[in-house]
Amino acid sequence: MSEKQKNKKTDKTVSREDSLKEITALCKRRGFVYPGSEIYGGLSNTFDYGPYGVELLRNLKNEWWKTFVHNRADVVGLDSSIMLHPSVWIASGHVGSFNDPLIDCKNCKSRFRADHLIEETLKIETANLELNDFQNLFKEKSEEIICPSCGKSGNFTEVRQFNLMFQTQMGSLSDSDVTVYLRPETAQGIFINVKNIADTCRVKIPFGVAQIGKSFRNEIIARQFIFRTREFEQMEMEFFCEPGTQKEWFEHWVKFCMDWLLSIGIRKDSLRLRNHDEKELSFYSENTADIEYQFPFGWGELWGIASRTDYDLKQHAEHSRKNLEYNDQEKNQKYIPYVVEPALGLNRLMLAVLSDAYFVENPATKEQRTVLKLHPKLAPVKAGIFPLQKKDGLSEIAMEIYNDLSKSFPVDYDASGSIGKRYYRQDELGTPFCITVDYDTKENGSVTVRNRDTTEQVRIPKEELKQFLIKNMEDA
Ligand code: GAP
Repeated sequence: MSEKQKNKKTDKTVSREDSLKEITALCKRRGFVYPGSEIYGGLSNTFDYGPYGVELLRNLKNEWWKTFVHNRADVVGLDSSIMLHPSVWIASGHVGSFNDPLIDCKNCKSRFRADHLIEETLKIETANLELNDFQNLFKEKSEEIICPSCGKSGNFTEVRQFNLMFQTQMGSLSDSDVTVYLRPETAQGIFINVKNIADTCRVKIPFGVAQIGKSFRNEIIARQFIFRTREFEQMEMEFFCEPGTQKEWFEHWVKFCMDWLLSIGIRKDSLRLRNHDEKELSFYSENTADIEYQFPFGWGELWGIASRTDYDLKQHAEHSRKNLEYNDQEKNQKYIPYVVEPALGLNRLMLAVLSDAYFVENPATKEQRTVLKLHPKLAPVKAGIFPLQKKDGLSEIAMEIYNDLSKSFPVDYDASGSIGKRYYRQDELGTPFCITVDYDTKENGSVTVRNRDTTEQVRIPKEELKQFLIKNMEDA
């Protein structure tokens, strides 16, 4: 038996490196995430979210919206188009600068980010280099750079700049076609609507505009399951404030975002804050901090919080020739607001939540169980309802309970297989409670309720189920 196998047998949980594979397998097995276009052999790096995945995504979005929009008097929502006027992306800098340098290995035809390859193999910082200098550096050092796929060195193509925006044509006749882009971030839709919002919605600075929606980036290397994909969903907020106050708002939002992650049950020691140094800052940012999560493959960016200055609004004012100044009537001043932006990827958040909740208890023993210890407010199903037997009227009582509870929460009815197997399935779905209807239920109206995390059971009158679930979910 290899060292790794031995560890797996004695560890309380599977090792972190293995767990991405295991989480991916669980996601497929239990209807969270399927490989995209699978019956046609798949389409690389695309994923479809199954019945339980879509519930988890929806719960994450609802929790975020509740905290960032409904519970805040100073934030409103927006849903802007995926396709915006092409000038938006010229003004924002994405047409000119949203590029990654790529190279191909001529030997095995694998494609890589050239900057990552240099930084990883030669430990040389490249963030500050102009394209020409970068291309020269790569040529000069090419013999020292080994292809991670085939192991050959010095056999690469020229470094080319690759724009990450997907293009498409709008219109049906080729001579009148307009090239449009699928948005690579939701943020720009907010900037171009802020005047509309200020003119129509009685908002006063400081205020935020939040949006949830799909973004698209033609990533050169898309990998690690749903961590980096070409189509993904973002939850972004642009917070508009008076110039000079951005530092205090930046600190406010960093703490607010971190607190929210803790409130949805992510463990504190799986999170850290990393400030960008000057070289790493995007062209529009004067200060950026990433909240990183310790994914099974290592620390990775989960949430970027950037102080974007007045860069975007100034650019849009210049390119659209519209006045985007804010008229501060209290101070009798007009100015272009400064912006603090917390930008979060929904699918990446889902991976963090699943990684954090994934446990294999008592591995390689008869008591082994895989359990997703999701916060109850995120769990796709709040309770599983099982009749001990299909006969003797038990399934009818269980179905009555199902019909009653399903008016308040998503619940599952399951009458197939042994009770143990039904528990196992609900544990893998992260269902916090399982309710069993047995012969005592017929006698005295009581049911057992099993707690997912402790596996302990209590017996309560079936009429008290709804209150019991509400109370125990609130206390979690
Ligand atoms: N508006 C600013 C912006 O988009 P970003 O750091 O490029 O900033 C924000 O993206 C968040 O979106 C990231 O922290 C990450 O969670 C998510 N994200 C970015 N690219 C992604 C991709 N290819 N796949 C999945 N999520 C991604």
